[in-house]
Amino acid sequence: MKRSTEGRPPREAVAIELLPNTSSPDELAAVDAIARACFENEAFSATEELSRPWARLWAARPSEGAPLAGFLIAWHVADELHVLNVATLPPMRRRGIARALMDASLRYSSGNKIRILLLEVRRSNRAAIKLYRDLDFKALGVRKGYYADTGEDAIEMILALDPESGMIVPGRDEFPIDD
Ligand SMILES: CC(C)(COP(=O)(O)OP(=O)(O)OC[C@H]1O[C@@H](n2cnc3c(N)ncnc32)[C@H](O)[C@@H]1OP(=O)(O)O)[C@@H](O)C(=O)NCCC(=O)NCCS
Repeated sequence: MKRSTEGRPPREAVAIELLPNTSSPDELAAVDAIARACFENEAFSATEELSRPWARLWAARPSEGAPLAGFLIAWHVADELHVLNVATLPPMRRRGIARALMDASLRYSSGNKIRILLLEVRRSNRAAIKLYRDLDFKALGVRKGYYADTGEDAIEMILALDPESGMIVPGRDEFPIDD
């Protein structure tokens, strides 16, 4: 078994914070703006999300003090972290921001006795699938027509952790998946 963030260089330039529900309106508005820029058909409100005690919202700046450029929203329920979305502003992509956000959620999971991380991703979203594959997520199943806007299938992906050690439990794809 290996640690969930093992073997990858730390993304020290990217500054990540876990936003509390007392975050400033400006900060929450910045997260909403990122969501609007990244998801055409999905409604998102950081304020509404943070009203749920089980929601975890990480925000990323490309460097300390810079404006927010990405976020990751997840629900922590019992021993599961369900990653609902990760997003980086288009001009700030391919700088390790989503990876740093995912790494932060993995560190959180390792430290909070999480047993599985789960997520759904559009079958056509090669960038996101590559991001998750690089982190050792495995293909668990297909949810037919999951996305109401286009009717596209979702691929369910899973990463299992040993809740005691926080190490990744090796898994395998349940069906072939293209990267
Ligand atoms: C997917 C997304 C979050 C990636 O954000 P990002 O900050 O650009 O990602 P990173 O720079 O951290 O990339 C990490 C790795 O992901 C993979 N990746 C990211 N973008 C990719 C692309 N366009 N094509 C192929 N692989 C890609 C690569 O393996 C990359 O590592 P590398 O740059 O060393 O090759 C971003 O493209 C985005 O916001 N997309 C729209 C929202 C979305 O689809 N979110 C996922 C919902 S499930």
